Amino acid sequence: MAKITKAVFPVAGLGSRFLPATKAQPKEMLTVVDKPLIQYAVEEAVAAGITELIFITGRNKRAIEDHFDTAYELEAELAASNKTALLESVRNVIPKSVSCIYIRQPAALGLGHAVLCAKPVVGDSPFVVILADDFMLAAPGQPNTTEQMVKLFETEHASMVAVQDVPREQTRQYGIVSGTPYKERLERMSAIVEKPSPSEALSTLAVVGRYVLDGKIFSYLEKIGKGSGGEIQLTDAIAAMMRDHPYLAYRFDSTRYDCGSKLGYLKASVVLGMQHQEIGTEFSSYLRTLQN
Ligand code: UTP
Repeated sequence: MAKITKAVFPVAGLGSRFLPATKAQPKEMLTVVDKPLIQYAVEEAVAAGITELIFITGRNKRAIEDHFDTAYELEAELAASNKTALLESVRNVIPKSVSCIYIRQPAALGLGHAVLCAKPVVGDSPFVVILADDFMLAAPGQPNTTEQMVKLFETEHASMVAVQDVPREQTRQYGIVSGTPYKERLERMSAIVEKPSPSEALSTLAVVGRYVLDGKIFSYLEKIGKGSGGEIQLTDAIAAMMRDHPYLAYRFDSTRYDCGSKLGYLKASVVLGMQHQEIGTEFSSYLRTLQN
């Protein structure tokens, strides 16, 4: 079984829940303390052994390409003023051994369509999909979610989605899976439905933005039409593929922040702010003054 070396980052969404902040910049460039969401996502992938980063970009996404590129003028200025630590932070955004590939999604036709845009680069290989706005904070001392899923794929040889329990009234915001317990934190999936109403949802187990997929998914993506919201849904292609191939649902142990929503983004910013090496202590004391 081939080793997973490719990660697809769909970053071509409209980010309408975050307007006007996302009017002229992608939501994946919103910063949590001092790093954009997309950089945390890339670091998660690199820690999992990924060496090819495939970004599916759209309009207003140039900032992402620039972020992972060399910034000559900035580097020269930081070097001239001996700001070594800052220079290193700008230079070492990704390791030299990792390559970036950018593919443009011509129109925001849905997550499934965005993933399909990666077909010419991914081919038949297994790959991971990471949605940067689902910010995952690894449990203390534990590998990150992508690392854990890549490792599980090596032993289970099955496609996999990351899941968490959500309140029933929120099922309309997610792909919802049902399955049977298989191993610790793993379910064998029997169904997946995009955004079911709370009364129709088969369970409250919701898919969040981490997937391990096989290259076979592309032929299913090509066949399915528009689904929920008039978009080409990755969930529908997974539902079709599940009839022919096994899928697992992985109950991750990280804490997930929905940084595509204002509330989730603020929560992540507070938690990461409190943990930050440079400002964490001062920020935490400031937060305590607000409680009075
Ligand atoms: P979302 O459902 O969060 O949509 O997409 P969105 O457009 O980004 O944000 P809202 O809901 O309007 O606020 C889930 C992921 O799929 C990507 C998004 O960038 C996000 O990472 N996506 C979505 C695409 O790349 N292309 C699309 O056509 C749709």
